[in-house]
Amino acid sequence: MKAIILAAGLGTRFKSKKPKVLHEILGKPMLWYVITNVKNGRINDIAVVVGHGAEVVKKRFENEGVKFFHQKNPKGGTAHAVLSAKDFFSSYDGYVLIINGDSPLVSGETIRNMQQFIHMVQTYEGIKLGGVVLTSYLQDPTGYGRIVKEPGTDRILKIVEEKDATPEERAIQEVNGGTYIFYAPILIEALFNIKPSPVTGELYLTDVVKYINDKGYEVRSFMAKEPTEILGVNTRWELSLVENIIKLKLIRYWAERGVTFHFPETIWIEPDVSLEPDVEVYPGVMLKGKTKVKRDSVIGTGSVLKDAVVEEGCEVREYSIVEESSLKSSSIVGPFARIRNNSIIDERAEIGNFVEVKKSNVGKGVKAKHLAYIGDATIGENTNVGAGVVFANYDGKKKYESFVGQNAFIGSNSLIIAPVKIGNWSYVAGGSVVNKDVPDEALAVSRPGLKILERKGRKLLDK
Ligand code: UD1
Ligand code: MG
Repeated sequence: MKAIILAAGLGTRFKSKKPKVLHEILGKPMLWYVITNVKNGRINDIAVVVGHGAEVVKKRFENEGVKFFHQKNPKGGTAHAVLSAKDFFSSYDGYVLIINGDSPLVSGETIRNMQQFIHMVQTYEGIKLGGVVLTSYLQDPTGYGRIVKEPGTDRILKIVEEKDATPEERAIQEVNGGTYIFYAPILIEALFNIKPSPVTGELYLTDVVKYINDKGYEVRSFMAKEPTEILGVNTRWELSLVENIIKLKLIRYWAERGVTFHFPETIWIEPDVSLEPDVEVYPGVMLKGKTKVKRDSVIGTGSVLKDAVVEEGCEVREYSIVEESSLKSSSIVGPFARIRNNSIIDERAEIGNFVEVKKSNVGKGVKAKHLAYIGDATIGENTNVGAGVVFANYDGKKKYESFVGQNAFIGSNSLIIAPVKIGNWSYVAGGSVVNKDVPDEALAVSRPGLKILERKGRKLLDK
């Protein structure tokens, strides 16, 4: 089986410079979902018809293993779009799936079931179907093509677009889901014989159904499992609704695999995220990119994880951000921590409030619990980084690295000027400026002497 995805339209109702199919749902373009669902429907020979914004669409999907066809006039209509890809299927003696690029909810399972349906009809009824159309009943069918059937059967006689429908046809609640499978030789003949709509001047793909019927081939309806599956995204509001549906499906998927989500309606989760049982996610969390969270970890309110790896038993406390970094098992970050640029927080380490860690390796059991900046640093096991410590990694021109050994103590408000090495079991007194290496077990102090003038304080206050 081959598939054609229609993604050339102007998307006028979106009111956007950007092509409609590139608008994002949970961090991925709408068209990514359609391509992924088609592949999950076990079809790998895929053509995408591009037109409006063709170059940007092609660029985004150049590594998806799909072929591109150009629709010269993206106002030509959906049948004109299919005709633009005629070289893809005109000499093919088989079935072709056609799906609108704005239908991201049609699942791979449904696509497989539609193929199975054609096969069953052929096996048990001995009929070769001209086509199958995915349909659903909608409470409010406004905007969708209406399915006109031979009464009492699932044989579709024609599909009528809303603009061309009579009042009786408009009252029909069974609608066209914009996903079809047609027998290629009869499809190509139909495409060359249909006429433009007298109302819009467009060539409608939906008109091939009547032609195929008139030729004596049956076109049957195939009911979507859930009515939401067929929702098309024509406006920004529909984009929001569909994004919400996809998100809830993802959350349900992980919930069924043992993850707890508190107030799931407030949580953002992207399709490439993976979670293990007994993970707990609190309200307002964003799980982005290829984030992985392993068993027994807790992600606190308002935290954002992007391409993060969180191993077993970690705590990401409230309002923390972890980007492109790993937290090893039983480590704790936050509240209000920021970990970024390939940092590693090793087992049992604790990174506390208002601590930023950038491109650094923080060893096992290290504690940096308040107000620090750790940049381009490697810190050995069990070292303590006091409040307000800053690793100055930048001299205005270049970045440099710092190395701190194991079991060291860096007192509060010290400034560690890179490049520098601080040894094992060494002690940097609070408020020191460290601009030379400190050997193992040494004490480093740089501090102007403190003067104490007896009773002078009270005198100043009395003035
Ligand atoms: C279409 C169907 C309608 C169905 C609905 C389901 C037609 C005529 N109507 O209406 O019966 O109920 O989908 O969502 O097919 N496109 C092109 N080239 C064009 C025009 C459109 O590639 O010249 C692409 C668009 O990018 C889009 C898809 O085809 O991805 C559907 O086009 P759209 O304008 O959204 O059709 P609907 O009005 O939604
Ligand atoms: Mg549409």
